[in-house]
Amino acid sequence: MIYRRAIRPLFFGVAGRDVESIHERVLGGLAWTSRSAALTRAVALAVNLAAGEQPRGMEREIFGLRFPNPIGLAAGFDKNAVAIPALAALGFGFVEVGTVTRHAQPGNPRPRLFRLISDAALINRMGFNNEGAEAVARRLARQRPRGVPVGISLGKSKITPLDEAVADYLGSLDLLYPHGDYFAVNISSPNTPGLRALQERERLDALVAALVGRLRERAAQEGRAAPKPLLVKVAPDLEDSALDDVVEVCLDRGVSGLIAVNTTIARDALSAWVPRTLAEQTGGLSGRPLHMRAVEVTRRLHQRAGDRLPLIGCGGVFAADDARRLFDAGASLIQLYTSFIYEGPTIARRLNRALASRRQPARV
Ligand SMILES: Cc1cc2nc3c(=O)[nH]c(=O)nc-3n(C[C@H](O)[C@H](O)[C@H](O)COP(=O)(O)O)c2cc1C
Repeated sequence: MIYRRAIRPLFFGVAGRDVESIHERVLGGLAWTSRSAALTRAVALAVNLAAGEQPRGMEREIFGLRFPNPIGLAAGFDKNAVAIPALAALGFGFVEVGTVTRHAQPGNPRPRLFRLISDAALINRMGFNNEGAEAVARRLARQRPRGVPVGISLGKSKITPLDEAVADYLGSLDLLYPHGDYFAVNISSPNTPGLRALQERERLDALVAALVGRLRERAAQEGRAAPKPLLVKVAPDLEDSALDDVVEVCLDRGVSGLIAVNTTIARDALSAWVPRTLAEQTGGLSGRPLHMRAVEVTRRLHQRAGDRLPLIGCGGVFAADDARRLFDAGASLIQLYTSFIYEGPTIARRLNRALASRRQPARV
């Protein structure tokens, strides 16, 4: 409430015109906090005071990992893994960092992030700006223990041609392997030219076969009972037949689970309140207008895969009812990003409490 009434207007007002620089300042604060155990504990305490303590009984065991609660932070917020301890202190049950690419890259020119306030949405065309797999691996090596499972999202470097994508992803996986509890293959961002072609059956098959193969090799070398989980993140713009292909390939190749969904290039769910100049920005749309599509895709994937491929539902989760809708469609865990920006730093805790209390509020 304090966030929505007092802090968000500051961020979204005059000072907030440059959306990305506000985001960078917030992330910088969380990174700074993360460097001190005492500050991180203070953040956890502040969340308890502002939003209440974490309810009991929200733990989940999925993909062989133990999650303290089912509400995770989606990829793209902490691209370089600078703020995991602070994000865990805010109450997220897991954090997916990245997307990380084999080579460091600046991403697309700014502006590349836009707020569609009337619709509680964002459009972004960041283009995988990140410090690259080596730098992120070095940072993660200094950071353990982290308290919550950490996923690492892997993407293709822009300079790497599509036909060399497999080696590019494997290069990132090799560097980051010791530091991830699970790995997510990002082949669904609309902001790297050609990337989504990797969702086509043959290319996807080659890519996931190589990555699962590498995870199995590493598990055998280390004497691990099971390889670290590999997840595939899908685009909401795939047709049903293409979603079915993804499920088949993932089941054939031993992928551990799916994340549904990434941002959409569709604009049909936007309201008439959004100015055309914003609606027509190139990039991926996230937030409230994505939610119903995320539910549909999750349901379709679950119908095809059943319990053989656990799902992380993602897209427009602002309230407990949204999370419930995704659970009902077959998701085992939830991720969010846009509602963190709109609803503030206690969103994970508030969602957990609302889910635990079985109340059905329209908003948490
Ligand atoms: C600014 C921004 C950057 C993102 N970057 C990534 C990314 O690097 N990798 C990725 O897999 N998804 C990325 N996403 C997509 C989110 O992880 C998520 O799938 C999507 O935003 C839908 O969830 P939401 O409606 O809760 O935001 C990004 C989203 C936003 C808004």
